[in-house]
Amino acid sequence: MKEFHVNTEIFFGERALDRLAGLSFDRVLIIADPFVVSSGLIHLVTSRLEEGHLSYELFTNVVPDPPIDKVIDGVATVLASCPPCLVAVGGGSAMDTAKAIRTFAGRIKPGYRPHLIAIPTTSGTGSEVTRFAVITDPEAGRKYPLVSEELIPDEAILDEELVKSVPASVTADTGMDVMTHALEAYVSKNNNEFSGALAEKAVEIIGQFLYRSYSNNQDTHARRKMHIAACLAGLAFDSASLGLNHGMAHQLGARFHIPHGRANAMLLPYIVEYNTGIGPTTRSQGDYPPCVRRYCNMARILGVSNINEVTTVRSLISYIHFMNEEMLIPKTVSEATGGAVTQEEYEAALDAMADAALADGCTATNPRTPTKEEIIQIYRKIW
Ligand SMILES: NC(=O)c1ccc[n+]([C@@H]2O[C@H](COP(=O)([O-])OP(=O)(O)OC[C@H]3O[C@@H](n4cnc5c(N)ncnc54)[C@H](O)[C@@H]3O)[C@@H](O)[C@H]2O)c1
Ligand SMILES: [Fe+2]
Repeated sequence: MKEFHVNTEIFFGERALDRLAGLSFDRVLIIADPFVVSSGLIHLVTSRLEEGHLSYELFTNVVPDPPIDKVIDGVATVLASCPPCLVAVGGGSAMDTAKAIRTFAGRIKPGYRPHLIAIPTTSGTGSEVTRFAVITDPEAGRKYPLVSEELIPDEAILDEELVKSVPASVTADTGMDVMTHALEAYVSKNNNEFSGALAEKAVEIIGQFLYRSYSNNQDTHARRKMHIAACLAGLAFDSASLGLNHGMAHQLGARFHIPHGRANAMLLPYIVEYNTGIGPTTRSQGDYPPCVRRYCNMARILGVSNINEVTTVRSLISYIHFMNEEMLIPKTVSEATGGAVTQEEYEAALDAMADAALADGCTATNPRTPTKEEIIQIYRKIW
């Protein structure tokens, strides 16, 4: 038996933030990315809360790739006043911090489960609707995807006014994260008709609107569409889970601080090549693994399908390289770290990174089961 649920109420489109004025809580704790506060974007949220006569406090001890100690700090803050509602405002890092804080606060104080509203300010992770929260252990140099229904936010608010300030490089990284979510969910061992429909729609929107969002951050229509695509892809992988791309990208983030979406984008063409077994010298054949047909469906949606399965998969791989190049995403770890990591250091880390990627919860649903040596080979392709 399979199941499909959308557990989060979603408010989206023009003036979606007006939803906040209609809340019936007396007070809320806002858990926000510090940029959202320093840039003044937070007023788009707080003005609505004031309109609805809700009092609020702010917690801004949020950093990219949230480490365990920030979550512990947040749990202490929340338990000090036990607000009935938490409002997370920021990218995946702020939303994951808030999701983990709520869950751990509930473990310490049984029965305490505040309402959680997630308001993304990047169009990327889909964290506003997922059961995932990715927490970093900086000492071990590892990222752990926590997976539990308890983590799912109760409401998500998608308002494109919050993403217009996102700079081009973050639009590129987070947009390619959405692409990776959609493709990984689509070929996942757990894919189903519902997750497939959501992933296909997300990819259709990415094909039309990611580059438009990247080239003009004030393009309201493109921004709104990409904000919705991120959420659709989030719903897709919430149901189908992800794959090796994310399992490997988590290690690049934890060890070398490569932004999450950028790490995914750098790996994505090589993961498609690995999963399909189709490379530059592959000839057309009669029998393909099932994921080949599914990647070909996505190539068709993107308008890059070709004569047969082999050339279509290769067109898809070229399309991903092309998007990365057009949006100035680094091709290699060496480029992405600005020379701060030497090849010797990278080589020395590969063994532990491959072990961690194999153990990562996302890798289990990859359509092809990788060996440690194969993972090391893929990591070498992006040196
Ligand atoms: N929970 C999930 O389902 C899930 C899925 C994928 C990734 N993740 C995790 O989410 C994190 C990445 O999230 P992200 O890609 O959204 O990045 P992020 O939240 O780390 O933010 C990236 C940068 O963008 C800035 N920023 C955020 N909003 C902005 C805005 N409106 N204007 C200008 N700058 C803005 C932030 O200050 C930060 O410097 C990683 O830890 C990743 O592992 C979670
Ligand atoms: Fe992701």
